Amino acid sequence: MCGIVGYVGKNQAAPILLEGLEKLEYRGYDSAGIAVRNGEDDTVIVKAMGRLKKLANKTDQGKAVKGTCGIGHTRWATHGEPSELNAHPHCSDDMNVVGVHNGIIENFQELRQKLAHHDYHFYSDTDTEVAIKLIDYYYKKYAGTPVDAINHALVRIRGSYALAVMFKEYPGEIYVARKDNPMILGKSDAGVFLGSDVPAILKYTRRVYYIGNMELGRLTSEGITFYNLDGDEIKKEETEIEWDAESADKCGYAHFMMKEIHEQPKAITETMKQYFDGSKVDFSTLEKNGAIEEAGGEKINAVLKGLERIYIVACGSAYHAGVVGKNVIEGMTDVPVEVDLASEFRYCDPKLMKNSIVVVISQSGETADSLAAMRLAHDRGIPTLAIVNVFGSTIAREADYVMYTCAGPEIAVATTKAYSAQLITLYLLAIKIGELTGTLDDDRIKELMTALEQIPNSIEKILDDKERIQWFAAKYASAQDVFFIGRGIDYAIGLEGSLKMKEISYIHSEAYAAGELKHGTISLIEKDTLVIGIMTQPDLFEKTRSNMVEVKSRGAYLFGLTTYGNYSVEDTVDFAVYVPRTLECFAASLAIIPLQLLGYYLAVAKGEDVDKPRNLAKSVTVE
Ligand code: G6P
Repeated sequence: MCGIVGYVGKNQAAPILLEGLEKLEYRGYDSAGIAVRNGEDDTVIVKAMGRLKKLANKTDQGKAVKGTCGIGHTRWATHGEPSELNAHPHCSDDMNVVGVHNGIIENFQELRQKLAHHDYHFYSDTDTEVAIKLIDYYYKKYAGTPVDAINHALVRIRGSYALAVMFKEYPGEIYVARKDNPMILGKSDAGVFLGSDVPAILKYTRRVYYIGNMELGRLTSEGITFYNLDGDEIKKEETEIEWDAESADKCGYAHFMMKEIHEQPKAITETMKQYFDGSKVDFSTLEKNGAIEEAGGEKINAVLKGLERIYIVACGSAYHAGVVGKNVIEGMTDVPVEVDLASEFRYCDPKLMKNSIVVVISQSGETADSLAAMRLAHDRGIPTLAIVNVFGSTIAREADYVMYTCAGPEIAVATTKAYSAQLITLYLLAIKIGELTGTLDDDRIKELMTALEQIPNSIEKILDDKERIQWFAAKYASAQDVFFIGRGIDYAIGLEGSLKMKEISYIHSEAYAAGELKHGTISLIEKDTLVIGIMTQPDLFEKTRSNMVEVKSRGAYLFGLTTYGNYSVEDTVDFAVYVPRTLECFAASLAIIPLQLLGYYLAVAKGEDVDKPRNLAKSVTVE
């Protein structure tokens, strides 16, 4: 989704803006633009369709645009087609107000009509132009400060926004506001920075501020002043970001995705470290309402102990992690678990049981549907636990309890390390519930924790043998349709494996519960159709293997994914891939690795843009 950046300080703004936008490329975009002010002089706006390189070329890598105060934007079209005209920044006709926006203004038609009655004309189809002109309208109508004008506009705007705006009469100042869209502000000796996400500013500073919903900020080279909707000044705490700048770089890998695949052992170790005291799962560092609970996890433990049902809600890969989580939690405890897509959950009027918890899983912590689902749970008085990767994100801040996945910044659109860290978090949650509700005894917990500690090492071993998957991918890069089959946890692995493949290689793929094959899918099997069977669960191994035999007899080419020891699979499949043995409940953490590699190598073999697949966004902040 759209990305915004801003800078005001001692240095030239344009190169900093371009660099920040480059770091936000992973969010997905179709056009980009910057606006830079040079003291009292007029603002210069430059926009370009397509990749950022074009904008950089148009501005001679930023050197052609002078000024120390500016804003920038990458646009992922929502209102109005991708075009230079619709690209941001947008401005009022007299350039009094210039701004960029991430989000959706739902009542923009109504506001546009209102402004048209006051002689405003529109050059683009965007809701953003309407917002900028509305601010201009109130600025002139009440002749107040920029903060007053923005506040008046925000009262009229329905929807979501992260806005950054400059006013002609206030050179060297940027005004920002946000509601339900991410924004982070940073400060260093060189000036003040803003971005949609941490990577945009990480190179310059790790001293950041989080601006709350419906709050405003005034950025000058000296610092940031925050205001509420009444225009009163409010205080904000500075926070230190722990991620280092290298974590947002490729560090020699061809793509971020490959780098992040290799970072999985570390992501898992770091995540586990946070909630494991050496013998048991320890929730004393788990956050309650934004702070580490003083009572050392007593509150969350009390909630978990009395649980009668768990609802897991998420989107995309986080949802797939949730499907694994359901299997694992139900395998270790007596608590029934329901997994829902957040986009469905929020509109299905879910019947939530009293002694329940809603677990929201989100890498970004900003996904609009997941956030809405969590708010629905709050409205119904159900406690919420967020499993989130991005520190200080909206979901993390609004959840009752937060477990952070310590995967560090994930840049590739196709998630890998954050998904793996989500799995680990769900395992730890399952073990804790099992301990608290008495379904797991100390010996079993010890056995589970020992197995968990071995996972990073086992992943390293799978990665050591990645060339075999690369070879297979080169051979199958022309595949048209691929089917993944499995049962239970293996089905959940298939869902994620299939998504990895289709989202970056553009090969059509579907995951099916193996038992469903005969109810339709089998009619799609033709000679040499690639079918990937996942068989890590001992009780279900024979069942899935016979489904493999069924598709083979109809011409399918079989890729079998199983654990070392199940060598009988070689009689059935054409190509066998083995992962190290682990407890069956944790098999997803190992079996997903070859499938991530397969998706990656297929995309590379086809020459696709691995880290930035077409039409996709890393963080989906609109419905
Ligand atoms: C997008 C991303 C996926 C991600 C999903 C949910 O579609 O491309 O990788 O799984 O959003 O995002 P979240 O940030 O909530 O995990």
